[in-house]
Amino acid sequence: MDAKTPFFVSTFLLYFVCLQANTLQTYIVQLHPHGITTSYFNSKLHWHLSYLEKAISTEEEPSSRLLYSYGSAMEGFAALLSDPEVKILKNLHDVIAVRPDRRLEIHTTYSYKFLGLSPTREGAWLQSSFGGGAIIGVLDTGVWPECPSFDDHGMPPVPRKWRGICQEGQNFNSSNCNRKLIGARFFRKGHRVALLSASSSTVVEYVSPRDSHGHGTHTASTAGGSPVPMASVLGNAVGEARGMAPRAHIAIYKVCWFSGCYSSDILAAMDMAIRDGVDILSLSLGGFPVPLYDDTIAIGSFRAMEHGISVVCAAGNNGPIQSSVANEAPWITTIGASTLDRRFPAIVRLRNGKFLYGESMYPGNLIPNSEKELKLVYLAEGDRGSEYCVKGSLPRERVRGKMVVCDRGVNGRAEKGQAVKEAGGVAMILANTEINLEDDSIDAHILPATMIGFKEAVELKSYINSTTLPRARIIFEGTVIGKSRGPAVAKFSSRGPSFSDPSILKPDMIAPGVNIIAAWPQNLGPSALPEDSRRVNFTVMSGTSMACPHASGIAALIHAAHPTWTPAAIKSALITTAEVTDHSGKPIMDGDKPAGLFAIGAGHVNPESAINPGLIYDIRADEYITHLCTIGYTRSDIFTITHRNVSCHELLQKNRGFSLNYPSISVIFRPGMMSKMIKRRLTNVGNLNSTFSVEVMAPEGVKVRVKPRHLTFKNLNQVFSYRVWFISRKRIGSQKMSFAQGHLTWVNSRSSSNKIRSPILVTWESKK
Ligand SMILES: *[C@@H]1O[C@H](CO)[C@@H](O)[C@H](O)[C@H]1NC(C)=O
Ligand SMILES: *[C@@H]1O[C@H](CO)[C@@H](O)[C@H](O)[C@H]1NC(C)=O
Ligand SMILES: *[C@@H]1O[C@H](CO)[C@@H](O)[C@H](O)[C@H]1NC(C)=O
Ligand SMILES: *[C@@H]1O[C@H](CO)[C@@H](O)[C@H](O)[C@H]1NC(C)=O
Ligand SMILES: *[C@@H]1O[C@H](CO)[C@@H](O)[C@H](O)[C@H]1NC(C)=O
Repeated sequence: MDAKTPFFVSTFLLYFVCLQANTLQTYIVQLHPHGITTSYFNSKLHWHLSYLEKAISTEEEPSSRLLYSYGSAMEGFAALLSDPEVKILKNLHDVIAVRPDRRLEIHTTYSYKFLGLSPTREGAWLQSSFGGGAIIGVLDTGVWPECPSFDDHGMPPVPRKWRGICQEGQNFNSSNCNRKLIGARFFRKGHRVALLSASSSTVVEYVSPRDSHGHGTHTASTAGGSPVPMASVLGNAVGEARGMAPRAHIAIYKVCWFSGCYSSDILAAMDMAIRDGVDILSLSLGGFPVPLYDDTIAIGSFRAMEHGISVVCAAGNNGPIQSSVANEAPWITTIGASTLDRRFPAIVRLRNGKFLYGESMYPGNLIPNSEKELKLVYLAEGDRGSEYCVKGSLPRERVRGKMVVCDRGVNGRAEKGQAVKEAGGVAMILANTEINLEDDSIDAHILPATMIGFKEAVELKSYINSTTLPRARIIFEGTVIGKSRGPAVAKFSSRGPSFSDPSILKPDMIAPGVNIIAAWPQNLGPSALPEDSRRVNFTVMSGTSMACPHASGIAALIHAAHPTWTPAAIKSALITTAEVTDHSGKPIMDGDKPAGLFAIGAGHVNPESAINPGLIYDIRADEYITHLCTIGYTRSDIFTITHRNVSCHELLQKNRGFSLNYPSISVIFRPGMMSKMIKRRLTNVGNLNSTFSVEVMAPEGVKVRVKPRHLTFKNLNQVFSYRVWFISRKRIGSQKMSFAQGHLTWVNSRSSSNKIRSPILVTWESKK
């Protein structure tokens, strides 16, 4: 999910036009995994086709309507159906759910150093052999295989267990795969149906795993890119580029196209990835939160988790709106975005001597004449969108030779630069509005340009208003590292509480997602504009899309170091070792306030600690099912998600006082409730004979008791349980929902740096 993608909007509208004209639409039909009718057919495919045969009233061949037949991520199929056919299908035996296809969106050289990873020092990279042997499956827009980041020099051989393929297609053949890029496939049937009427597409898209968009190349290289010395974006941010797991193998599943990512295609890719044998699935895509039984990613990832695959997803770019976090199923690791402490200052100097701080990836420090003083113009009158610098909205006679101020919003950031250039303008200042405030997601602009915060924008506009001859210049200062505080929460990063399940704290954690530099296709310029003829091997992008592959790569390191760990154990290692302070030792900030748990979850990912957490909170698949019972899901909801037919009544009887062994803690006081007890279970994966003691920072308005307070582990994999009582000291019957936060930490008595920390969130629900 990246902010650079305006393409989706227009094609989405076309999609609806198409629906009116054509009554066939893609549906995902979920079947009972042990359907009694299965046995009559000699293959799953025939079984699936038999449903179409019964539902279709015309003479058509049923197979002409079938898009996908699923078996690993879910039992069922995707097909083109009319409304009456859907009605018939819903009444057929063993049909569990019929859902319309859903459209989702795609949500460095430096970030590995920022996270403390070092190729030489004893630590996570050496202990995990740089992720060697782990396979990361990336569901995204495909890959540009010739990027130096996918070079397989020094890579270990393809793992024996790998069953994937290198699918041939337009400008892509099997020789494009190697020991780094061990597999590539593409899935576009759902997408193609949605696009039937959008014929005059101006966008060139490869019908193959090849990436014509850049997003997938960028995310795949962030997770597992090979080392590339002297990488830079047009001379800025020079350094050695490496993915988080530089020796992990990458498998590409192209599911996102210029019109978005359809859930029928995503499910087909997950289905295949489970059979291919990936260890980690990285999904930098999603939509708005929906109940788990309607969420194909939640359903597919449950099955992936049962196969031992860690599923890591982007939290979404809909922050700071509350409850905007997506991909929030408890078996998924949900990643929000943080900023680095790397800046690219490009400062505006007004004629009156004032400086306005801005940032840019335009290499103005390296290109002569970029810093000239120019006349300033801001065209805010009329209704042509000229304040946003929409293409064709800028009158040439007023813009020619000038520096143009453009408000953020409506069209893409880099696209505004192209509009200015086409109208004869020679430089641009992108002005944040009240919506973006001081957000600093920058671009490799096509002309000298910088982006300023909202405060600065107000000052700039009043200066322009105050004089008849406003003038300014931009001073480009290149790359500056370590002078500013970081990490901090990215403004756009989606926030909790979780819409579908507030008893699980989401997002789980944050990782670098602002101004991330990673690999880039050779068919695109660094601004991703069709007019940009510059060519680079790296460019800058921002979004939780960029944060997610950081966590996926680190999950691959943990998997490589501990191949027997479950996805829950890997997630526990990530969550309980996350940092809550920034590099200056002060609390991680969210704008001008210390960040709350709904913004950062457990905190900022810390690979060096995550590789050896000492203790883990493990979760078995059946415990997630009991958990779904505790949050009120019905038997059929649970069956849809997990394919297991359980009686919640019996499960809850058998597991009185059940609480999911989640590595973070979320306690909800319903109106009238005064106390709550939870249980947790720790497994020793560190040293023998180690004693841990608990430290609690109680949330305001709550008394917290833990029993026992000390745990001594004598053996490896020894398990101890503990209980925590939360006693509310707030008066009953408050009208407003309120929150408080704290933490519970187990500290190793031999080494106080070995801590297992769980954030605590307490919610008092309001009376209806
Ligand atoms: C694959 O493509 C490359 C470059 O386009 C070409 O040299 C090679 O012969 C092709 N290989 C196959 C097996 O088609
Ligand atoms: C510019 O000045 C005019 C008149 O003083 C005022 O109405 C307007 O709001 C000002 N615009 C900005 C952007 O400051
Ligand atoms: C990109 O990488 C390729 C292969 O390593 C190299 O030949 C090319 O010069 C690089 N391009 C740029 C702009 O650095
Ligand atoms: C689940 O089990 C119950 C009782 O054993 C049975 O009546 C019901 O049909 C089953 N449901 C599914 C979806 O298998
Ligand atoms: C652990 O403690 C026991 C007795 O308390 C001792 O016999 C054993 O050697 C210790 N093991 C280690 C690895 O320190």
